[in-house]
Amino acid sequence: MSEKIKVGVLGATGMVGQRYIKLLENHPWFEVTYVAASPRSAGKPYSEAVKNRWLIGADIPANVAPLIVEDANDEKKAVGKCQFVFSALEMGKDEIKALEAAYAAEGIPVVSNASANRWTEDVPMLVPEINYSHLDVIAEQKKHHGWDKGFIAVKPNCSLQTYMMPIHALIQAGYPIKRMIVTTLQATSGAGYPGVSSFDMIDNIVPFIGGEEEKTEKECLKILGTVKDGKIENAAGPLVSSTCTRVPVVDGHTACVSLEFDLPEDKKPSLEEIEKIWTSYTSVPQELKLPSAPEHPIVVRHEENRPQPRRDRETEKGMACVIGRLRPCNVFDIKFVALSHNTKRGAALGGILNAELLKAKGFFN
Ligand SMILES: NC(=O)c1ccc[n+]([C@@H]2O[C@H](COP(=O)([O-])OP(=O)(O)OC[C@H]3O[C@@H](n4cnc5c(N)ncnc54)[C@H](OP(=O)(O)O)[C@@H]3O)[C@@H](O)[C@H]2O)c1
Repeated sequence: MSEKIKVGVLGATGMVGQRYIKLLENHPWFEVTYVAASPRSAGKPYSEAVKNRWLIGADIPANVAPLIVEDANDEKKAVGKCQFVFSALEMGKDEIKALEAAYAAEGIPVVSNASANRWTEDVPMLVPEINYSHLDVIAEQKKHHGWDKGFIAVKPNCSLQTYMMPIHALIQAGYPIKRMIVTTLQATSGAGYPGVSSFDMIDNIVPFIGGEEEKTEKECLKILGTVKDGKIENAAGPLVSSTCTRVPVVDGHTACVSLEFDLPEDKKPSLEEIEKIWTSYTSVPQELKLPSAPEHPIVVRHEENRPQPRRDRETEKGMACVIGRLRPCNVFDIKFVALSHNTKRGAALGGILNAELLKAKGFFN
Protein backbone atom coordinates (compact mmCIF):
# COMPACT_ATOMS: atom_id res chain seq x y z
CA MET A 1 0.00 0.00 0.00
CA SER A 2 1.17 3.52 -0.83
CA GLU A 3 2.73 5.47 2.03
CA LYS A 4 2.39 8.72 0.12
CA ILE A 5 0.25 11.63 1.25
CA LYS A 6 -2.97 11.82 -0.79
CA VAL A 7 -3.39 15.22 -2.43
CA GLY A 8 -6.10 16.99 -4.38
CA VAL A 9 -5.71 19.61 -7.11
CA LEU A 10 -8.42 22.30 -7.36
CA GLY A 11 -8.40 23.84 -10.83
CA ALA A 12 -6.70 20.65 -12.08
CA THR A 13 -7.78 21.25 -15.69
CA GLY A 14 -6.17 24.70 -16.04
CA MET A 15 -2.69 25.83 -17.02
CA VAL A 16 -1.24 25.59 -13.51
CA GLY A 17 -3.43 22.62 -12.54
CA GLN A 18 -2.08 20.57 -15.44
CA ARG A 19 1.48 21.37 -14.35
CA TYR A 20 0.63 20.09 -10.87
CA ILE A 21 -0.75 16.86 -12.31
CA LYS A 22 2.39 16.26 -14.37
CA LEU A 23 4.93 17.39 -11.75
CA LEU A 24 3.33 15.23 -9.06
CA GLU A 25 3.42 12.11 -11.28
CA ASN A 26 6.38 10.47 -9.56
CA HIS A 27 6.62 12.64 -6.49
CA PRO A 28 8.32 10.79 -3.61
CA TRP A 29 5.94 12.13 -0.92
CA PHE A 30 2.66 13.09 -2.62
CA GLU A 31 0.14 11.26 -4.80
CA VAL A 32 -2.79 12.87 -6.64
CA THR A 33 -6.02 11.14 -5.61
CA TYR A 34 -8.54 13.94 -6.15
CA VAL A 35 -9.11 16.44 -8.97
CA ALA A 36 -11.66 19.24 -9.13
CA ALA A 37 -12.48 22.11 -11.46
CA SER A 38 -15.51 24.10 -12.63
CA PRO A 39 -18.99 22.62 -13.05
CA ARG A 40 -18.17 22.56 -16.81
CA SER A 41 -15.60 19.80 -16.23
CA ALA A 42 -17.24 18.08 -13.25
CA GLY A 43 -18.47 14.53 -13.80
CA LYS A 44 -16.00 13.78 -16.62
CA PRO A 45 -12.92 11.57 -16.37
CA TYR A 46 -9.86 13.86 -16.14
CA SER A 47 -8.59 12.70 -19.57
CA GLU A 48 -11.93 13.69 -21.12
CA ALA A 49 -12.09 17.04 -19.29
CA VAL A 50 -8.68 18.13 -20.68
CA LYS A 51 -9.16 16.55 -24.13
CA ASN A 52 -7.85 18.97 -26.80
CA ARG A 53 -6.43 21.30 -24.12
CA TRP A 54 -3.74 19.17 -22.43
CA LEU A 55 -0.87 21.62 -22.70
CA ILE A 56 2.02 19.69 -21.20
CA GLY A 57 4.30 18.01 -23.72
CA ALA A 58 3.93 14.49 -22.29
CA ASP A 59 1.09 12.05 -21.60
CA ILE A 60 -1.46 12.55 -18.85
CA PRO A 61 -0.27 10.46 -15.86
CA ALA A 62 -2.01 7.07 -15.96
CA ASN A 63 -3.16 7.27 -12.33
CA VAL A 64 -4.93 10.62 -12.88
CA ALA A 65 -6.42 10.12 -16.38
CA PRO A 66 -9.42 8.04 -15.15
CA LEU A 67 -10.16 10.11 -12.00
CA ILE A 68 -13.58 11.74 -12.18
CA VAL A 69 -13.32 15.54 -11.95
CA GLU A 70 -15.41 16.91 -9.09
CA ASP A 71 -16.92 20.37 -8.72
CA ALA A 72 -14.34 22.43 -6.80
CA ASN A 73 -17.16 24.53 -5.32
CA ASP A 74 -18.24 21.54 -3.21
CA GLU A 75 -15.52 21.21 -0.58
CA LYS A 76 -17.31 18.34 1.16
CA LYS A 77 -16.63 16.07 -1.83
CA ALA A 78 -12.89 16.21 -1.03
CA VAL A 79 -13.29 15.04 2.56
CA GLY A 80 -11.68 11.64 3.06
CA LYS A 81 -10.23 11.61 -0.47
CA CYS A 82 -7.13 13.73 0.12
CA GLN A 83 -5.10 15.09 3.04
CA PHE A 84 -4.50 18.53 1.55
CA VAL A 85 -5.21 20.38 -1.70
CA PHE A 86 -3.28 22.57 -4.09
CA SER A 87 -5.52 25.44 -5.20
CA ALA A 88 -5.02 26.56 -8.81
CA LEU A 89 -8.45 28.07 -9.31
CA GLU A 90 -9.20 31.06 -11.49
CA MET A 91 -12.40 32.65 -10.14
CA GLY A 92 -13.45 35.88 -8.47
CA LYS A 93 -11.22 36.80 -5.50
CA ASP A 94 -14.06 36.72 -2.96
CA GLU A 95 -15.25 33.34 -4.25
CA ILE A 96 -11.76 31.84 -3.97
CA LYS A 97 -11.27 33.32 -0.50
CA ALA A 98 -14.53 31.81 0.73
CA LEU A 99 -13.82 28.48 -0.94
CA GLU A 100 -10.27 28.12 0.42
CA ALA A 101 -11.61 28.87 3.91
CA ALA A 102 -14.34 26.25 3.41
CA TYR A 103 -11.75 23.57 2.59
CA ALA A 104 -9.66 24.58 5.62
CA ALA A 105 -12.77 24.43 7.81
CA GLU A 106 -13.30 20.84 6.60
CA GLY A 107 -9.84 19.97 7.92
CA ILE A 108 -8.17 20.13 4.50
CA PRO A 109 -5.07 22.39 4.34
CA VAL A 110 -4.90 24.56 1.20
CA VAL A 111 -1.61 25.36 -0.57
CA SER A 112 -2.71 28.07 -2.96
CA ASN A 113 -1.52 29.80 -6.11
CA ALA A 114 -4.41 32.24 -6.17
CA SER A 115 -4.01 35.85 -5.09
CA ALA A 116 -7.20 35.93 -2.95
CA ASN A 117 -5.48 35.26 0.40
CA ARG A 118 -2.12 36.89 -0.25
CA TRP A 119 -3.00 39.91 1.87
CA THR A 120 -4.65 38.03 4.71
CA GLU A 121 -2.44 38.97 7.70
CA ASP A 122 -2.17 35.49 9.19
CA VAL A 123 -1.68 33.68 5.88
CA PRO A 124 1.98 33.11 4.96
CA MET A 125 2.94 34.08 1.37
CA LEU A 126 5.86 31.73 0.95
CA VAL A 127 9.02 31.64 -1.05
CA PRO A 128 10.58 28.89 1.08
CA GLU A 129 14.15 30.09 0.61
CA ILE A 130 13.21 33.55 1.89
CA ASN A 131 10.47 33.47 4.50
CA TYR A 132 10.14 29.94 5.90
CA SER A 133 9.80 31.62 9.32
CA HIS A 134 6.36 32.94 8.27
CA LEU A 135 5.03 29.41 8.87
CA ASP A 136 4.83 30.57 12.50
CA VAL A 137 1.59 32.45 11.75
CA ILE A 138 -0.30 29.27 10.86
CA ALA A 139 -0.90 28.39 14.52
CA GLU A 140 -2.56 31.80 15.05
CA GLN A 141 -4.56 31.42 11.83
CA LYS A 142 -5.95 28.05 12.98
CA LYS A 143 -6.74 29.42 16.43
CA HIS A 144 -8.46 32.50 15.03
CA HIS A 145 -10.75 30.42 12.78
CA GLY A 146 -11.15 27.49 15.15
CA TRP A 147 -9.65 25.18 12.49
CA ASP A 148 -8.26 21.92 13.75
CA LYS A 149 -6.19 20.50 10.88
CA GLY A 150 -7.00 22.94 8.07
CA PHE A 151 -5.05 26.10 7.21
CA ILE A 152 -4.13 28.23 4.19
CA ALA A 153 -0.65 28.99 2.85
CA VAL A 154 -0.15 30.85 -0.44
CA LYS A 155 2.43 31.65 -3.09
CA PRO A 156 3.23 35.15 -4.30
CA ASN A 157 2.69 36.43 -7.82
CA CYS A 158 4.81 34.66 -10.44
CA SER A 159 6.56 37.72 -11.90
CA LEU A 160 8.29 38.90 -8.73
CA GLN A 161 9.65 35.42 -8.04
CA THR A 162 11.96 36.15 -10.94
CA TYR A 163 14.00 38.52 -8.77
CA MET A 164 12.96 38.07 -5.11
CA MET A 165 15.70 35.57 -4.19
CA PRO A 166 18.55 37.80 -5.49
CA ILE A 167 17.02 40.75 -3.64
CA HIS A 168 16.71 38.71 -0.44
CA ALA A 169 20.27 37.41 -0.79
CA LEU A 170 21.63 40.97 -0.92
CA ILE A 171 19.53 42.22 2.01
CA GLN A 172 20.48 39.17 4.09
CA ALA A 173 24.16 39.81 3.35
CA GLY A 174 23.83 43.31 4.86
CA TYR A 175 23.09 45.34 1.74
CA PRO A 176 19.60 46.87 2.20
CA ILE A 177 17.84 48.11 -0.92
CA LYS A 178 16.22 51.54 -1.09
CA ARG A 179 14.56 51.66 -4.52
CA MET A 180 14.04 49.44 -7.54
CA ILE A 181 12.74 49.91 -11.06
CA VAL A 182 11.47 46.69 -12.62
CA THR A 183 10.24 45.99 -16.15
CA THR A 184 8.80 42.51 -16.64
CA LEU A 185 8.44 40.60 -19.91
CA GLN A 186 5.90 37.95 -19.00
CA ALA A 187 5.10 34.72 -20.83
CA THR A 188 1.68 33.98 -22.30
CA SER A 189 1.21 30.90 -20.06
CA GLY A 190 0.99 33.37 -17.17
CA ALA A 191 -2.45 34.37 -18.42
CA GLY A 192 -3.88 30.85 -18.04
CA TYR A 193 -5.63 28.94 -20.83
CA PRO A 194 -6.69 30.07 -23.43
CA GLY A 195 -5.21 33.35 -22.19
CA VAL A 196 -4.46 36.30 -24.46
CA SER A 197 -5.79 35.85 -28.01
CA SER A 198 -3.24 34.80 -30.63
CA PHE A 199 -4.17 37.89 -32.67
CA ASP A 200 -3.07 40.13 -29.78
CA MET A 201 0.06 38.09 -29.03
CA ILE A 202 1.74 37.16 -32.33
CA ASP A 203 4.16 39.82 -33.62
CA ASN A 204 3.29 41.97 -30.64
CA ILE A 205 3.90 43.09 -27.05
CA VAL A 206 1.02 44.04 -24.76
CA PRO A 207 2.21 46.74 -22.32
CA PHE A 208 -0.43 46.08 -19.65
CA ILE A 209 -1.40 43.14 -17.41
CA GLY A 210 -4.36 43.94 -15.18
CA GLY A 211 -3.42 44.12 -11.47
CA GLU A 212 0.12 42.89 -12.06
CA GLU A 213 2.05 46.09 -11.36
CA GLU A 214 0.32 46.54 -7.99
CA LYS A 215 1.20 42.94 -7.05
CA THR A 216 4.81 43.37 -8.13
CA GLU A 217 5.17 46.58 -6.15
CA LYS A 218 3.47 45.43 -2.92
CA GLU A 219 3.92 41.68 -2.45
CA CYS A 220 7.69 41.96 -1.89
CA LEU A 221 7.00 43.89 1.33
CA LYS A 222 5.02 41.02 2.83
CA ILE A 223 7.53 38.41 1.64
CA LEU A 224 10.34 40.35 3.32
CA GLY A 225 8.21 41.04 6.42
CA THR A 226 8.65 39.67 9.93
CA VAL A 227 6.31 37.72 12.20
CA LYS A 228 5.00 39.72 15.17
CA ASP A 229 2.18 38.69 17.52
CA GLY A 230 0.98 35.91 15.19
CA LYS A 231 0.79 38.21 12.16
CA ILE A 232 3.13 39.23 9.39
CA GLU A 233 4.36 42.79 9.63
CA ASN A 234 5.38 44.10 6.22
CA ALA A 235 8.89 45.33 5.56
CA ALA A 236 9.22 49.10 5.08
CA GLY A 237 11.01 48.75 1.72
CA PRO A 238 12.29 48.57 -0.93
CA LEU A 239 10.20 51.04 -2.87
CA VAL A 240 9.38 49.44 -6.24
CA SER A 241 8.17 50.98 -9.49
CA SER A 242 7.21 48.39 -12.12
CA THR A 243 6.00 48.09 -15.70
CA CYS A 244 4.55 44.68 -16.54
CA THR A 245 4.28 43.54 -20.16
CA ARG A 246 3.06 40.39 -21.91
CA VAL A 247 5.41 39.06 -24.62
CA PRO A 248 5.11 36.21 -27.15
CA VAL A 249 7.04 33.66 -25.06
CA VAL A 250 5.33 30.43 -23.97
CA ASP A 251 6.96 29.90 -20.54
CA GLY A 252 9.46 31.96 -18.55
CA HIS A 253 9.06 35.44 -17.10
CA THR A 254 11.96 37.88 -17.53
CA ALA A 255 12.54 41.00 -15.43
CA CYS A 256 14.94 43.89 -16.08
CA VAL A 257 15.86 45.30 -12.68
CA SER A 258 17.73 48.46 -11.64
CA LEU A 259 18.29 49.01 -7.94
CA GLU A 260 19.76 51.44 -5.47
CA PHE A 261 21.27 50.35 -2.16
CA ASP A 262 20.25 52.10 1.06
CA LEU A 263 23.88 52.64 2.00
CA PRO A 264 26.57 55.32 1.77
CA GLU A 265 28.67 55.10 -1.37
CA ASP A 266 31.69 53.51 0.35
CA LYS A 267 29.57 50.73 1.89
CA LYS A 268 27.94 49.52 -1.33
CA PRO A 269 28.97 46.07 -2.61
CA SER A 270 31.09 45.58 -5.71
CA LEU A 271 29.77 43.56 -8.66
CA GLU A 272 32.17 40.75 -7.65
CA GLU A 273 30.78 40.68 -4.11
CA ILE A 274 27.21 40.64 -5.43
CA GLU A 275 27.92 37.71 -7.71
CA LYS A 276 29.55 35.83 -4.83
CA ILE A 277 26.51 36.44 -2.61
CA TRP A 278 24.16 35.19 -5.32
CA THR A 279 26.09 32.06 -6.28
CA SER A 280 26.59 30.98 -2.67
CA TYR A 281 22.93 31.58 -1.70
CA THR A 282 21.21 28.56 -0.17
CA SER A 283 18.56 28.26 2.50
CA VAL A 284 16.28 25.91 4.45
CA PRO A 285 14.87 24.01 1.41
CA GLN A 286 18.44 23.08 0.43
CA GLU A 287 19.39 22.19 4.04
CA LEU A 288 16.30 19.99 4.35
CA LYS A 289 16.96 18.52 0.88
CA LEU A 290 13.33 19.04 -0.10
CA PRO A 291 12.67 17.01 -3.28
CA SER A 292 11.81 20.04 -5.45
CA ALA A 293 14.44 22.40 -4.03
CA PRO A 294 17.05 23.54 -6.56
CA GLU A 295 20.60 22.83 -5.51
CA HIS A 296 21.53 26.33 -6.70
CA PRO A 297 18.53 28.67 -6.26
CA ILE A 298 20.36 31.52 -8.05
CA VAL A 299 22.41 30.85 -11.17
CA VAL A 300 24.54 33.63 -12.67
CA ARG A 301 25.36 33.56 -16.40
CA HIS A 302 28.13 35.60 -17.99
CA GLU A 303 27.21 35.48 -21.69
CA GLU A 304 26.15 38.94 -22.84
CA ASN A 305 22.92 37.59 -24.37
CA ARG A 306 21.60 35.49 -21.45
CA PRO A 307 19.29 34.67 -19.72
CA GLN A 308 16.83 33.74 -22.45
CA PRO A 309 13.48 32.06 -21.74
CA ARG A 310 13.88 29.20 -24.24
CA ARG A 311 17.45 28.41 -23.22
CA ASP A 312 17.39 29.04 -19.47
CA ARG A 313 13.89 28.46 -18.05
CA GLU A 314 14.52 24.78 -17.25
CA THR A 315 17.68 25.53 -15.20
CA GLU A 316 17.59 23.49 -11.95
CA LYS A 317 14.32 21.74 -12.99
CA GLY A 318 12.66 25.13 -13.62
CA MET A 319 13.28 26.24 -10.03
CA ALA A 320 16.25 28.58 -10.40
CA CYS A 321 16.37 32.31 -10.75
CA VAL A 322 18.79 32.80 -13.64
CA ILE A 323 20.59 36.14 -13.70
CA GLY A 324 22.66 37.75 -16.39
CA ARG A 325 23.94 41.14 -17.51
CA LEU A 326 24.90 42.30 -14.01
CA ARG A 327 26.41 45.74 -14.55
CA PRO A 328 26.58 49.26 -13.07
CA CYS A 329 23.54 51.49 -13.50
CA ASN A 330 23.96 55.17 -14.45
CA VAL A 331 20.87 56.20 -12.47
CA PHE A 332 20.77 53.71 -9.55
CA ASP A 333 23.63 51.41 -8.43
CA ILE A 334 23.33 48.16 -10.39
CA LYS A 335 21.15 46.58 -13.04
CA PHE A 336 20.59 43.02 -14.20
CA VAL A 337 18.23 40.74 -16.11
CA ALA A 338 16.53 37.88 -14.22
CA LEU A 339 14.47 34.94 -15.45
CA SER A 340 12.39 32.20 -13.88
CA HIS A 341 9.91 29.58 -15.10
CA ASN A 342 6.48 31.03 -14.33
CA THR A 343 4.44 27.82 -14.28
CA LYS A 344 7.18 25.86 -12.44
CA ARG A 345 9.00 28.08 -9.85
CA GLY A 346 6.32 30.75 -10.24
CA ALA A 347 3.34 28.41 -9.86
CA ALA A 348 3.03 24.61 -9.60
CA LEU A 349 6.55 23.49 -8.64
CA GLY A 350 6.86 26.44 -6.28
CA GLY A 351 3.54 25.32 -4.72
CA ILE A 352 4.91 21.79 -4.41
CA LEU A 353 8.04 23.17 -2.71
CA ASN A 354 5.77 25.03 -0.26
CA ALA A 355 3.95 21.77 0.49
CA GLU A 356 7.26 19.93 0.94
CA LEU A 357 8.36 22.56 3.46
CA LEU A 358 5.02 22.25 5.28
CA LYS A 359 5.35 18.47 5.37
CA ALA A 360 8.96 18.59 6.55
CA LYS A 361 7.91 20.95 9.35
CA GLY A 362 5.10 18.63 10.46
CA PHE A 363 2.09 20.66 9.28
CA PHE A 364 0.34 17.70 7.64
CA ASN A 365 0.64 15.38 10.63
N1 LIG B 1 -0.41 30.72 -15.11
C1 LIG B 1 0.54 31.14 -14.26
O1 LIG B 1 1.74 31.26 -14.64
C2 LIG B 1 0.21 31.44 -12.83
C3 LIG B 1 1.27 31.75 -11.98
C4 LIG B 1 1.03 32.02 -10.63
C5 LIG B 1 -0.27 31.98 -10.17
N2 LIG B 1 -1.31 31.70 -11.01
C6 LIG B 1 -2.64 31.63 -10.42
O2 LIG B 1 -3.06 30.26 -10.44
C7 LIG B 1 -4.47 30.17 -10.63
C8 LIG B 1 -4.76 29.32 -11.85
O3 LIG B 1 -4.22 29.97 -13.00
P1 LIG B 1 -4.24 29.28 -14.44
O4 LIG B 1 -3.31 30.09 -15.24
O5 LIG B 1 -4.01 27.82 -14.31
O6 LIG B 1 -5.77 29.53 -14.89
P2 LIG B 1 -6.65 28.70 -15.96
O7 LIG B 1 -5.78 28.04 -16.97
O8 LIG B 1 -7.67 29.65 -16.44
O9 LIG B 1 -7.36 27.54 -15.08
C9 LIG B 1 -8.40 27.85 -14.17
C10 LIG B 1 -8.91 26.63 -13.43
O10 LIG B 1 -9.96 27.08 -12.54
C11 LIG B 1 -11.16 26.33 -12.82
N3 LIG B 1 -12.34 27.19 -12.67
C12 LIG B 1 -12.69 28.26 -13.43
N4 LIG B 1 -13.88 28.75 -13.01
C13 LIG B 1 -14.29 27.96 -11.98
C14 LIG B 1 -15.45 27.94 -11.15
N5 LIG B 1 -16.44 28.82 -11.29
N6 LIG B 1 -15.55 26.99 -10.20
C15 LIG B 1 -14.56 26.07 -10.03
N7 LIG B 1 -13.44 26.03 -10.80
C16 LIG B 1 -13.31 26.97 -11.76
C17 LIG B 1 -11.01 25.89 -14.27
O11 LIG B 1 -11.85 24.77 -14.51
P3 LIG B 1 -12.44 24.44 -16.01
O12 LIG B 1 -11.29 23.91 -16.79
O13 LIG B 1 -13.47 23.41 -15.72
O14 LIG B 1 -12.98 25.73 -16.55
C18 LIG B 1 -9.52 25.55 -14.33
O15 LIG B 1 -9.30 24.30 -13.77
C19 LIG B 1 -4.97 31.62 -10.77
O16 LIG B 1 -5.45 32.04 -9.51
C20 LIG B 1 -3.73 32.38 -11.18
O17 LIG B 1 -3.79 33.73 -10.79
C21 LIG B 1 -1.09 31.41 -12.32
